[in-house]
Amino acid sequence: MAAAKIAPSMLSSDFANLASEAERMVRLGADWLHMDIMSLRKHTKAYLDCHLMVTNPSDYVEPMGKAGASGFTFHIEVAKDNWQELIQNIKSKGMRPGVSLRPGTPVEDVLPLVEAENPVELVLVMTVEPGFGGQKFMPEMMDKVRTLRKKYPCLDIEVDGGLGPSTIDVAASAGANCIVAGSSIFGAADPGEVISVLRKSVEG
Ligand code: DX5
Ligand code: ZN
Repeated sequence: MAAAKIAPSMLSSDFANLASEAERMVRLGADWLHMDIMSLRKHTKAYLDCHLMVTNPSDYVEPMGKAGASGFTFHIEVAKDNWQELIQNIKSKGMRPGVSLRPGTPVEDVLPLVEAENPVELVLVMTVEPGFGGQKFMPEMMDKVRTLRKKYPCLDIEVDGGLGPSTIDVAASAGANCIVAGSSIFGAADPGEVISVLRKSVEG
């Protein structure tokens, strides 16, 4: 007999806590976790800003393009030797290329990608160690944001990790214009209000 495989569909989980939701399902006896990679595109016209915290981003370009990703942001730490090819590839699949850097990576490492003939269109400055939501914002990362904003007035500069009403002003005044927020939005009683507070701070 074929073995039973019970696969909770993560599409119905609490997305703000994906890691703990996955852990909870495994603990409760799930065999598999079912991931509907295509289904989000079917259900929304929204810009899907995809942050690939993977060691081999090139393997994901084609599938992410097919699944309907809008932006494809890879980490510089794992693309030191092939970022030119990667950017080219991302664009050829109709996505907007972005590069991200971890807290320990100097901002100088991403400048060549912004200045390239075929450049990235977004820089994502991590304000926590990548991994999970709900961590504390690292204000010392704002030096990177300021350096980028000074050099590139029109670049999309994204911040990710610990952003919410109490940290947004620091990030916005440093020059960040794309704000990723997980727990502060999904954990709020009034998420729409949090979104509007974040927007007001960026728009000044
Ligand atoms: C962290 C991820 C974030 C995270 C943000 O590795 O890149 O996008 O989910 O969550 P908060 O806003 O809760 O810090
Ligand atoms: Zn992220």
